[in-house]
Amino acid sequence: MKLRILVTAGDGIGPEVTGEAVAVLKEIATQGGHDFAFAEKRIGGDAIVQDGTPLPEDTLQAALSSDAVLLGAVGGNEFNSLPPDKRPEAGLLKIRAALGGFANLRPAFAFKELAVNSPLRPEIIDGADVLFVRELLGGLYFGQPRSWDKVAGRALNTMVYTRDEVARVAHIAFQLAQHRRRKLTSVDKANVLEVSQLWRATVNEVAAGFPDVTVEHQYVDAMAMHLMNRPRDFDVVLTENLFGDILSDESAVITGSLGMLPSATIGGKVNLYEPVHGSAPDIAGKGLANPMGAILTAALILRHSAGLEAEAAAIESAARKVLEQGFRTPDLARGNTQGLTVLSTKEMGAKVRETVKEQLLAVSR
Ligand code: IPM
Ligand code: MG
Repeated sequence: MKLRILVTAGDGIGPEVTGEAVAVLKEIATQGGHDFAFAEKRIGGDAIVQDGTPLPEDTLQAALSSDAVLLGAVGGNEFNSLPPDKRPEAGLLKIRAALGGFANLRPAFAFKELAVNSPLRPEIIDGADVLFVRELLGGLYFGQPRSWDKVAGRALNTMVYTRDEVARVAHIAFQLAQHRRRKLTSVDKANVLEVSQLWRATVNEVAAGFPDVTVEHQYVDAMAMHLMNRPRDFDVVLTENLFGDILSDESAVITGSLGMLPSATIGGKVNLYEPVHGSAPDIAGKGLANPMGAILTAALILRHSAGLEAEAAAIESAARKVLEQGFRTPDLARGNTQGLTVLSTKEMGAKVRETVKEQLLAVSR
């Protein structure tokens, strides 16, 4: 298997966590005789400082000519006063639009070992396994017009979707549901917004082609509550861009830490892979970051861009095993160090790598 991966590590903890994800991928390549080539380019605040723009042209071109892009995180406090189109986040939105992936998959599952980290009772989250499918290229994030008229004291963003934009992401969500527990929950605000009424009508049209999948619709406000009360009732959750952004962070409560959540964006020219967590500037460069989100994101590269399902599963089970053995980064230990071994970013990466290697050797024996 040959794969050219562009790594845009970005800001804050991005370089540390993507470094560990790349190391795991290199281990997989060595074990299986695969040819994975890695290149690095700047994005976000790092690119603003060095190139004067959050998405330099050579980063964009390198991304477009790669097989997959692995992104760390963007953002930093020093950029907080810049207008939206000059901020590090603008680089991320631009690369998302250019690569064209509109279906952002954000799996959130409960790790038994991390149940103590969740404010939810263990019997509520035990066994929860939700796949969010967040539409990534439409809605308020990209809708025109948008403006902030400082003199008039008035700002405007536009929530807009076309039927085709909803249908294409719904198709992907239904297909994914067919390979899971065949239940799809579509989240909208159809009691108030026309955009949501279009969303709901379109999801129902697409649903007609998937009679084996059960569909339900939830309003986003109620869904925010249901996710915390009964997360196990949900399988695939399909929603628009901003609602998906909010609900996927909320779902970190199910997993026990935002640092555990991976994501894959598919459906476009080149798939884009990024952990859900941000750049966490307060802990950057200290070896405190949790590389699991990035490492589990590497598993998604293998699954969705390389067709290496066994290897993807090996990473996921290695992550579980390492937790079972009591290894934690500080965000996962949360000061409860009894019986646990707290590891640095690099040590955790090495632990997962070692375990992946054992698993693959066991399979090939
Ligand atoms: C995410 C992030 C981004 C988003 C930011 C950094 C622009 O919160 O991927 O969830 O809002 O999409
Ligand atoms: Mg977010």
